[in-house]
Amino acid sequence: MTLSRRSFVALLGGGTIAAAGGGAAAFAVTRTPHAALAPWDMAGGYADPRARALSWALLAPNPHNRQPWTVRMDGDDGMTVWRDPDRDLPVTDPFGRQLTIGMGCFLELARMAAAQEGFATEARLFPDGEGPGDPIAHLRLIDDAAVPDPLFAHVLDRRSHKEPFRSDPVTPQAAASLTPHCRVHLGGPVHAVLLEQANAAHLAEAATPAAWQESIDLLRIGKAEIVADPDGIDVGGPMLEALARLGVLTREAASDPNHPAARGSIEATSDAILSAPATTTIVTATNTRLDQIEAGRLWLRQNLAATGAGLALRPVSQALQEYAEVRPMHDAVHAAAAPDGGTVQMLGLLGHGARTARTPRWPLESRMV
Ligand SMILES: Cc1cc2nc3c(=O)[nH]c(=O)nc-3n(C[C@H](O)[C@H](O)[C@H](O)COP(=O)(O)O)c2cc1C
Repeated sequence: MTLSRRSFVALLGGGTIAAAGGGAAAFAVTRTPHAALAPWDMAGGYADPRARALSWALLAPNPHNRQPWTVRMDGDDGMTVWRDPDRDLPVTDPFGRQLTIGMGCFLELARMAAAQEGFATEARLFPDGEGPGDPIAHLRLIDDAAVPDPLFAHVLDRRSHKEPFRSDPVTPQAAASLTPHCRVHLGGPVHAVLLEQANAAHLAEAATPAAWQESIDLLRIGKAEIVADPDGIDVGGPMLEALARLGVLTREAASDPNHPAARGSIEATSDAILSAPATTTIVTATNTRLDQIEAGRLWLRQNLAATGAGLALRPVSQALQEYAEVRPMHDAVHAAAAPDGGTVQMLGLLGHGARTARTPRWPLESRMV
């Protein structure tokens, strides 16, 4: 699901919001989930260089903000990285393809953070095979005068955009900074198909109870829930929290796609998708676990490059998913963006827009085994 905070506000009606508005400024200050956002300020603040690299890596984008990574320190310079199966998304990511892409984002950000301090990262991917429970990687930091990566400068400003896009186009010059990492579609017929199918798949998800419910189960409504579980889909801020307290914004309302609250949110997300002036795709020839990790590395770099170019980038994944109800959109996206075969691993909406807030993170200590 791609619920936007603004869309919930849009649909729930100004009257209620106004009624909840008294003392809003003070309420806003107290309702920011500082503890859930603290890992953004703690990045790099550890004694062990491995912990420093990981403290940056956990800021990586990842599906539904599940943060499925767990890590063990090995000896003086090693680490083993796993993907936690308890954080799977069995309906919308039945093969763990997207979650593996998220692990690729994590590994790339760890590598960049280590390089920033001159450490090279030796990575052995799937060292014990690809079975459930097998590690994703063995990593070793080598003090080796590694070259810092200019994209690292944008890590703290990177976001997955969630708001509508403004109408101003993406210039070819701005797009050029992304093209080492993806294909950019600046309008034209492929772009039109991608937007249309992304929206159709979003609507299909809303109409598929098991898929929709998977997102509802991950809603964290209000500060207390966000701080208790700093992952999933955070629905916070003073406005929405006030509505939740008034019983207007509830999990039950959101889970019924015909409820006015949910319907407004679904429509607002459609508007946001269709507003994108450009799209991006990452296509791999095959669809192995290594391809998925590589797609994640590319997505992270693309996201950072977009940030550096002043552009907003939002993944829209519904049309790339592997369940029956979105199969027609999956096939149409592949016919348009991968006509010679291959797998479209990531589809991004690209443009300009109001800045999205930071999303919560579990602290590093909670991810260590
Ligand atoms: C493989 C993958 C798929 C994603 N799919 C979507 C999506 O369909 N819609 C969306 O709004 N965000 C999507 N995201 C973005 C995540 O929601 C986002 O990374 C997460 O909430 C953390 O927020 P941040 O990237 O702003 O730090 C995806 C991210 C990844 C890595």
